[in-house]
Parts: sequence; C-alpha cells; structure tokens
Amino acid sequence: MNVVEGPLLRPFLPGQKRPGGGSGHGQPATAKEREREAAPHAPQFQLLTGRGGKFLRLPTAAEAATAPRASYPHSGVPDACVGCHYDAEARRSAVGGHSFKLLDRPDTRPLVLCTARPPELEPLRTSTRTGSCARCHGRLGTLNARARGDYDGDGRLEGIVDEIAGLLELLRAELGRELARLALRGAGGELAASVTVADERLVLADAECRPLAGPKGARVSLPASALLVEKAAFNYLMAVRDGSGGIHNPQYLVALLQSTIVELEAARGEKRPHAWRSLP
Ligand code: HEC
Ligand code: HEC
Repeated sequence: MNVVEGPLLRPFLPGQKRPGGGSGHGQPATAKEREREAAPHAPQFQLLTGRGGKFLRLPTAAEAATAPRASYPHSGVPDACVGCHYDAEARRSAVGGHSFKLLDRPDTRPLVLCTARPPELEPLRTSTRTGSCARCHGRLGTLNARARGDYDGDGRLEGIVDEIAGLLELLRAELGRELARLALRGAGGELAASVTVADERLVLADAECRPLAGPKGARVSLPASALLVEKAAFNYLMAVRDGSGGIHNPQYLVALLQSTIVELEAARGEKRPHAWRSLP
C-alpha cells in the first residue's frame, strides 16, 4: 500500500459506497471531496505526518517568509508506528509487546468525543510504558514527558500531555462561547451547547452531549453560518480521537490548536496577547 498517496490519507466518507462494495474506507483516488461534516476518523497517521487539521487561516506573506519550516521528529521514528507501539521490553507483560497499546491499563479509556466534556487523559498521563521512547529520550518516567515549551501559556512547563490538555481546555471554552453566541437550536427548540460525533458526522448536541433532534428526528448538522465552529470542533475532536495526547506530533498539534483558539477569539472581536510559546 502506498502510504503517502494511498487510501489512508484520503478523506473518510461516512456511509459512501466504494465501487467494489463496502463503505467509508479505501475510497478510490478520484474521491477527493471530503464531506463537510465528516468526523475526524482514525486520524493517527495524518497527525503523525502533520496533516488533516483544518487551519482556519493561511499565514500572511510576511509570516510565511520568516517562519522556520516546521519539522515533525516523530514522523521519522524508525519502523514508523511499530517503532513506538511495539515495546520489546514489555514483551512478556500482559499489555506490552504485541498489544499496540502503551497504556498500563489499556481497557479503561473511553474516548470523550464531545466538546462539552474534557477528554479522559489520566491513563495516558500516568502510563509508564516508555520502553520504546528510551532509545531517543533516555529513560522517561511516564508518557507525559517534558514538553519543550509552555504551549498552553499557564506559566508552567509541564509534560506534553498536560500542555495539550491545557490547549484543549482553552479551545473547549472558546467553542462553548461561540455556540452560545450563535444560539443554534434543534427542532424542539433546545439550544446547541456542544458538538459531538454521530454516525461519523459532526452534529450539534446539548450540554450533556446528547445530539439535538432535527425535523423528523434527524440529527442536526452545523449550518454553513457556523463553519468556523465546525472546523474548530473538528480540530478539537481530531486531537481527542488521535488518542496520543499530542505525542504523535506535538509540533503540529500545538500549532493547530493555538491557531484555532486565536481565530475563534478574533471572530468575536477579541485580540489578546497569549503568554504561550508558539511553534511554526
Ligand atoms: C513517537 C511514538 C509513536 C509513534 C511513532 C506512533 N505512535 Fe501511536 N501512540 C503513541 C502513544 C504514546 C499513544 C498513547 C498511548 C496509547 O494509546 O497506546 C499512541 C496512541 C495511538 C492510538 C490510540 C490508541 C487508542 O486505542 O486510543 C492509535 C490508534 C495509534 N497510536 C496509532 C498509530 C499509528 C497508526 C502510527 C503510525 C502511523 C503511530 N501510532 C505511531 C506513540 C506513537
Ligand atoms: C526515533 C527517536 C524518537 C523516539 C522513538 C521518540 N521520540 Fe520523542 N522526540 C524525538 C525528537 C528528535 C524530538 C525533538 C527534539 C527533542 O525534543 O528532544 C522529540 C520530541 C519529543 C517531545 C517534546 C515535544 C515538544 O516539542 O515539546 C516529547 C514530549 C516526546 N518527544 C515524547 C516521546 C515519547 C513519550 C516517546 C515514546 C512513546 C517518544 N517521544 C519517542 C525523537 C524520538
């Protein structure tokens, strides 16, 4: 399989039939269009190689001319996915070795695919399965290895999972504000307070993450007037669904989340200085 041009990098189209039958995965090369409301689906490869996110604006000419080229060291890990996920040291343990999971408690991690609730990052933060990191980083206590910058601007240099968690919190708050401002409603008049994933599509939901019902009980997609929220929610949910707490590609994810937060602030006319360390 050609991983650079191949089906892994083509958009996942919910429910769309392939020529040979089946749906979703493995679309033909001609199927370039991404359905606007398609949810981020298994985004790990995209993130590792620094793509798939929805940047809300392009850099200005001046920024592009002066920005150093972004580099993503983890996309060069030898043997790619296996280089980290196959932890030879843990071969004999119950969860290491062939399990793919780098978590001490691999089955206790529900993904929270909803912008009204923080993601469950504790198992990641505390996991000690760092054997495959050691050849480059030396011994790491946990996967929550020290970041190179205070990316969430809270004044503390923390582990990468905590820095990403901080950015996700800022983005969640922005999304909540923007949804309140738009006051979108379901057919029964209930207010949209979050974005969640249903049938691999982004849909509006209430504060408890229950999808809103539209006419005839259908789910409610985001209207074109909420394109900014849709893209921002996509980025948020992509970061959560990736499941690595930023470790797949700290540089890319930090740049994506920071720029998304800044664009949402700008949209409501706020321009505030951030104390965070930004990346190209
Ligand atoms: C730099 C090391 C590293 C590389 C390289 C890497 N991963 Fe990961 N990945 C992690 C860590 C750390 C986690 C979080 C712990 C876990 O869920 O096992 C993770 C989580 C995941 C998860 C989420 C697991 C779950 O069920 O929530 C998937 C899926 C995944 N990686 C796929 C991949 C794929 C596919 C590749 C190659 C394209 C890859 N990873 C390359 C470190 C890496
Ligand atoms: C093949 C080598 C290699 C492996 C394996 C590897 N890394 Fe890295 N990692 C790098 C390089 C190179 C950098 C960039 C320079 C630096 O910060 O040391 C980096 C950066 C980082 C950073 C700093 C992110 C930032 O920019 O703030 C963290 C955190 C990190 N790695 C965690 C991990 C974890 C956790 C694992 C194991 C799951 C892992 N790495 C596996 C090479 C590797």
